[in-house]
Amino acid sequence: MYKTHTCGEVNVSHIGQSVTLAGWVHRIRHHGGMLFLDLRDRFGLLQIVADGARSPAAFQQLAEVRPEWVIQVQGRVERRPPGTENPSLPSGEIEVLAENVRVLNPSRPLPFPLEERKGKSIDESLRLKYRYLDLRRARLQRNLELRHRVVLFIRNYLAERGFLEIETPILFKATPEGARDYLVPSRLYPGHFYALPQSPQQLKQLLMIAGIERYFQIARCFRDEDQRGDRQPEFTQLDLEMAFVEREDILNTVEALFTELITRLAPHKRLLTVPWPRLSYHEALLRYGSDKPDLRFGLELQDLTECFREADFIPFRAALQSGGSVRCLRLPPSSGWGRAQQNTAEKMLLEQGYIPLVLIRTESGWSGNSLARRMNETLRQRLLERLQPQVGELCLIVAGETFAVSKALGNVRLWLRDALKLAPPDVLAFAWVVDFPMFEWNAEEGRWEAAHHPFTRPRPADPELLERAPQELLSEAYDMVCNGYELASGSIRIHESDLQRRVFRVLGLSEAQIQQKFGHLLEALDFGAPPHGGIAPGIDRLVMLLADEPNIREVIAFPKNQAARDLMADAPSPVEERQLRELHLKIENSQEKK
Ligand code: AMO
Repeated sequence: MYKTHTCGEVNVSHIGQSVTLAGWVHRIRHHGGMLFLDLRDRFGLLQIVADGARSPAAFQQLAEVRPEWVIQVQGRVERRPPGTENPSLPSGEIEVLAENVRVLNPSRPLPFPLEERKGKSIDESLRLKYRYLDLRRARLQRNLELRHRVVLFIRNYLAERGFLEIETPILFKATPEGARDYLVPSRLYPGHFYALPQSPQQLKQLLMIAGIERYFQIARCFRDEDQRGDRQPEFTQLDLEMAFVEREDILNTVEALFTELITRLAPHKRLLTVPWPRLSYHEALLRYGSDKPDLRFGLELQDLTECFREADFIPFRAALQSGGSVRCLRLPPSSGWGRAQQNTAEKMLLEQGYIPLVLIRTESGWSGNSLARRMNETLRQRLLERLQPQVGELCLIVAGETFAVSKALGNVRLWLRDALKLAPPDVLAFAWVVDFPMFEWNAEEGRWEAAHHPFTRPRPADPELLERAPQELLSEAYDMVCNGYELASGSIRIHESDLQRRVFRVLGLSEAQIQQKFGHLLEALDFGAPPHGGIAPGIDRLVMLLADEPNIREVIAFPKNQAARDLMADAPSPVEERQLRELHLKIENSQEKK
């Protein structure tokens, strides 16, 4: 071993002992005939002192080293002279007087400093190109450690409750989750492809048919979709499935797991409501303008349809005649809104296609934008009675298709959250969103799509609705949301092959397509498939929230950038002609490297 102790474990109890340490030179300071060096390893920072008078050889050698060189130091642990202690370091009361030094490997000067200076962020492309250096930084080391502890906790928790962790294949067949597949060409079968799993969805259902009853996996998923701060082309799920369960069983299992996980691993976080509130999909959209509402702050949307219908307010007449609603977002004066926020909110609504009615409660009534001047006295009074606003309150009012206007106001609500810092950062507001629609209409392609995925069970309601009025059918799907993020989705599944076939047909699949894509699953359902259901929380998003990071790249060791590239290894990259030939592939027009 290169070391007898780690930098993090040496403390006052070691005073007088000889220790051998190895790590990276974090910082060096020269002080006349003395040299002070912070040695860093994964476990901590330790001050090494070289004294030109007491150990000239070590002093000479350390005078040569530079930041990030890898060195080994043997020396004696001493108490720091009074007044030189560093209370911000666990090892701040001691130092090691260097006696022997060995340079294990020098380092070139780093392309960026490991310590972020206040207000100066490091260019992310540079960080990703040299990710192995970026990962040396305390912030990323903390994140990796937290991620490890989260996964370890989950594994132990579920194993204690009878769950088996089972690996499922990466080379598989397309499993639709709404994204494009990553395909892997087959050398042995020309023109045939494996698909990387968008999730282990079908496989975990097959494991239920296999009699596993309680399965989980820390599973890598692959999706070729547009990148965002909370999306990566490959990411990790806690994939979970149980047999002989109903919706409540899954929700209770996962709620208990996460509640305990957060209490143990993120004690600085406070759960806003326990047990977690439940909202229907409709309610979430109407009240917060989002199916993943941030419940850490108020600003709930309100309905004003009746007021405006009675008043026959001309600018909103068309929207109401075509069955729409009038919805309102209110900002009390205590939120601290000002002219700048009002202007941006108005602009955001215009950009989303709505001309808002902007009202501000004054001592004598309402002031507002040009639409406000078109309100008659009755409407002004009706709104005062209905809203009972405080003086200085801002009301943003729009008319249009109910969900669409709610979503537009929901976007403004979230923007205001950030602009006015309305959400307390240490609160985790978990909630369950339930009663999703079974299908969504894809207007572009003129067909129904599964709102969750096609294996989700419709609510029993009226079995005939499936073919007669798919738009009215609800599903047994549920989402776990927190602070405006969707952290998990799941559902009770279809376990009967005839019902599964009917759902595929509503989705517009022909008999031949059903057989080709899902024949294996349909056949399996006929061999005694138990009722089952499950869920898949995203590990990256969870750790991001617990670590207070703004995006999931900060909690993934080697993430892709926003353009889905690995900047460190430069992937994706061209391959040799010979490899293409073996795979029976020909590149038609190779794109210019971006
Ligand atoms: P779904 O597709 O909703 O459900 O995914 C579940 C959770 O996975 C995370 N997630 C992602 N995280 C990072 N980058 C991405 N590109 C990404 N896509 C999804 C989110 C999301 O809530 N098989 C079903 C689950 C089930 O029914 O059991 C599924 O994968 O946190």
